[in-house]
Amino acid sequence: MARSLFWEDGALVVLDQTQLPHRVEWLRLRRWPEVVEAVRALRVRGAPALGAAGAYGVALAARELAANPQEFHERLRQAAEAIRSARPTAVNLAWGTDRALRAAEGAPEAEQAAESALAEAHRIVQEDERACRALAEAGARELGDGERVLTLCNTGALATLGIGTALGILRAAWEAGKRVHVYACETRPLLQGARLTTWELRELGIPFHLVVDAAAGWLMARGRVDRVVVGADRVAANGDVANKIGTYTLAVLCRHHRVPFWVAAPLSTVDLATPDGQAIRVEERAPEEVTWFAGCPVAPEGTPALNYAFDVTPAELVDALVTDAGVLRPPFGPALRAAVGGARV
Ligand code: MRU
Repeated sequence: MARSLFWEDGALVVLDQTQLPHRVEWLRLRRWPEVVEAVRALRVRGAPALGAAGAYGVALAARELAANPQEFHERLRQAAEAIRSARPTAVNLAWGTDRALRAAEGAPEAEQAAESALAEAHRIVQEDERACRALAEAGARELGDGERVLTLCNTGALATLGIGTALGILRAAWEAGKRVHVYACETRPLLQGARLTTWELRELGIPFHLVVDAAAGWLMARGRVDRVVVGADRVAANGDVANKIGTYTLAVLCRHHRVPFWVAAPLSTVDLATPDGQAIRVEERAPEEVTWFAGCPVAPEGTPALNYAFDVTPAELVDALVTDAGVLRPPFGPALRAAVGGARV
């Protein structure tokens, strides 16, 4: 089954998701700048997987920098800053990086610091595996038998350290014997839905159709969608949700067609320090991701393209936040504070 990353023999091994579905290629990252490159290039991606990648990046940096213990902590902090800022929107990247950094800073000697950072990264992996399972089961319990569920991007095992979030719910429902049909939006411009979600769904044997992103409204108008379930890159304290570009459009369509709109995320994606969606920095990526397709130009040379990787959906359009602390309903502010305050997975 799909797996996003693991630690082996002093290296962070990541499945290069830019090569899927055509090639299954594992990369052995031994130096922390390689982690930064892999994150920027989306070789490893999805909020929870980025959290672990960030933590392992700090562990690699600590091992590397321990060879010369002079100003070790200062140089480690600089490496962590570079890792943390490789992508700005998914809060898990900063969260995982900072957890490993804090663990390292608690150790007096450089070598111990490297061990502590690595142990923290392993803990993040274990916690996410449990969180995915808990939220997937919580969501699956509420899903009706025979539902047709539309989803965006990839939120499965490839995006996490467990069975996934939005896709994890569908998998848990399927494995519990419920019939499910998935509409996987292709997810322009990098096609995480077409390349990755379809790949996971085929492995799982869950029936699905791949659809273009623009088909969502028409499918809803034809009464073919019972629910939309997506993941999240950051959930603000008031319940506003940053997620893959197109999520907001889906939420608006859902409200118009009275289709329930769910967001699935572990509590590690909840950022109580960010009051609302306006305070979330939305990543803008290279225009060539839009003006080129599969290595070929598709727009006249010099075409300006705006390439926002994410958008922000206001909390008022979200019907439920499915978390490892259970299914939260509006008003999300108090529900999130209570869930994060009592979070134990
Ligand atoms: O740009 P990506 O592929 O990292 O974007 C991923 C998403 O938007 C996911 O929905 C989100 O990270 C949740 S993954 C469980």
